[in-house]
Amino acid sequence: MNQFNTTTADTAPAYVKHKRLKDWVAKMAQLCKPERIYWSDGSQEEYDRLCKEMVASGTFIKLNPKLRPNSYLALSDPSDVARVEDRTFICSANKDDAGPNNNWIAPDEMRATLRKLFDGCMRGRTMYVVPFSMGPLGSRISHIGVEISDSPYVVVNMRIMTRMGNKVLDVLGADGGFVPCMHSVGMPLDPGQKDVRWPCNKDQKYIVHYPETHEIWSYGSGYGGNALLGKKCFALRIASIMGRDQGWLAEHMLILGVKPPQGQKLYIAAAFPSACGKTNFSMLIPPENFKGWKVTTVGDDIAWIKPHKDGRFYAINPEAGYFGVAPGTSDHTNLNAVTMLKQNCIFTNVALTPEGDVWWEGMTSTPPAKLTDWQGKEWTPDCGRPAAHPNSRFTVSSTQCPSLDPAWDDPHGVPISAFIFGGRRSTAVPLVYETRSWDEGVYLAATMGSETTAAATAQQGVVRRDPFAMLPFCGYNMADYFNHWLKMGHAIVHVPKIFGVNWFRKGADGKFIWPGFAENMRVLKWIVERCLGRAHAAESPLGLVPDYKDLEWKGLEEISADKFHTLMSLDGETWKQELASHSEFFDKLKQRLPRELTERRERLQSSF
Ligand code: GTP
Ligand code: SPV
Ligand code: MN
Repeated sequence: MNQFNTTTADTAPAYVKHKRLKDWVAKMAQLCKPERIYWSDGSQEEYDRLCKEMVASGTFIKLNPKLRPNSYLALSDPSDVARVEDRTFICSANKDDAGPNNNWIAPDEMRATLRKLFDGCMRGRTMYVVPFSMGPLGSRISHIGVEISDSPYVVVNMRIMTRMGNKVLDVLGADGGFVPCMHSVGMPLDPGQKDVRWPCNKDQKYIVHYPETHEIWSYGSGYGGNALLGKKCFALRIASIMGRDQGWLAEHMLILGVKPPQGQKLYIAAAFPSACGKTNFSMLIPPENFKGWKVTTVGDDIAWIKPHKDGRFYAINPEAGYFGVAPGTSDHTNLNAVTMLKQNCIFTNVALTPEGDVWWEGMTSTPPAKLTDWQGKEWTPDCGRPAAHPNSRFTVSSTQCPSLDPAWDDPHGVPISAFIFGGRRSTAVPLVYETRSWDEGVYLAATMGSETTAAATAQQGVVRRDPFAMLPFCGYNMADYFNHWLKMGHAIVHVPKIFGVNWFRKGADGKFIWPGFAENMRVLKWIVERCLGRAHAAESPLGLVPDYKDLEWKGLEEISADKFHTLMSLDGETWKQELASHSEFFDKLKQRLPRELTERRERLQSSF
């Protein structure tokens, strides 16, 4: 039996041997006062049972098993639809260690606030205990966490997104280390009070990290990165701190394998900000004229990268599933995703068809005549509202991905040959360029900008500096993080090349010039060939760039040499402004900013 009544002294099943874990759970139960405690075993039987319970409670809608077997739809509260960056805190002892890139509150003050909020916060609910591993079980690169949550939605999502359950307790043994991850939706139930479909706290949300003690406390939200604490909170914010202290990198990066027709397969890691195409790029299907090229997927969101004694970086994907953006996913943009979403999925905030299947903007060119939208309201194509929320998502196991790389679960990780950085920029940044050195690459990544997307609750579409696509995820001072990256370039012999890309440049008509998606293969091919020493590049102020003739154009006649030059153009005035914006951003970090970056900026300034 792994279900416990909180009125008895025992709060853990006999098979749990880890005293510190048992003590922590008992202490948290005392604070949160749940009605019962449930230790998740991670079994299929448990997953099915919890899903069934959520169908009964109204949190889940079971989709038509003929159209979408074993799949569910959850519709969130309209106030709980994305990460809340302004409610995310790094509570280091010293404010400067969190840096200007993070919200900071003194740890003691935050602890007092949270103690009040968590006191009795699980009344009337079940407290689930979820042991999970980020990374393959037992790998030297992996780390273990335990999430306590009062949300069954979190438990079933964690089962897809991580290696979870009893097998993790086996690895933990009697005294293994784990990151304690405390989560509550922040909506206790009074005796007899009826629950709502999506419990959350509309007024108070806190996503809190304590860097010194590696603890996570999340209150008030049940959505994505706010609630699935293995993902952004652990695998990026806390792990970036571990990486700084232990000499490795935790990054907001996809990892893909790419095999040319002749020659060996290379692995590449790429950082794009949230909702800027990591999932799509990691599952790219080369266009017709790329016979013999194959792209395989190791991960779509997070990479943990460690230097190895052979002088190379090795990367693992710490996750076991994808929590991907639904809108825009179609046969044309990401056939692999469409295929992997055929069954065993959880959808959140997409629309429901009358037949009991799902739909989102961009899935088909003609929308269905009638739908139930993400708020449960009747929807027709002319009603003027989107049917799916722009940040609606799917949760699916990696093992369902048709392009999954055979090494995706390899505890050693895969060797990285290149890093790519790309934001969403309608102007300024060219389609592709290669930096001449590691340090120049760090400058490129440090000054990356991107137009904001629906992945966070904030103003949409404004350019902000999003260094390394890590602005919302770096658990410490960004200037220290730049220093760490510069240092890591010296920790290895085989230094990866660093490239910048931009799929999002717009023409005078306001439309994307570059067709993107599968056609990104043309850029990837040049990158691979540069790594293999086979492709030509020309000099430019930003670094090395392809000439028109250096890319493969067969099958993409719509991009003329003229259009290519527009995509690659560096306008002097625009770049003067761009560099001024770099300078303004560096100013905020100036206390600890590495000299290499200011020097590089000065050199660039003299080129424009
Ligand atoms: P997170 O999961 O939020 O970290 O983001 P992600 O980077 O994995 O985002 P995802 O791949 O799901 O990005 C989805 C959005 O990017 C959709 O709006 C897509 O239409 C758009 N997108 C992806 N690739 C391309 C591309 O090559 N060109 C253009 N124009 N849009 C793209
Ligand atoms: C992102 O916003 O970068 C995501 C989705 O990958 S979430 O897990 O909700 O943060
Ligand atoms: Mn992400």
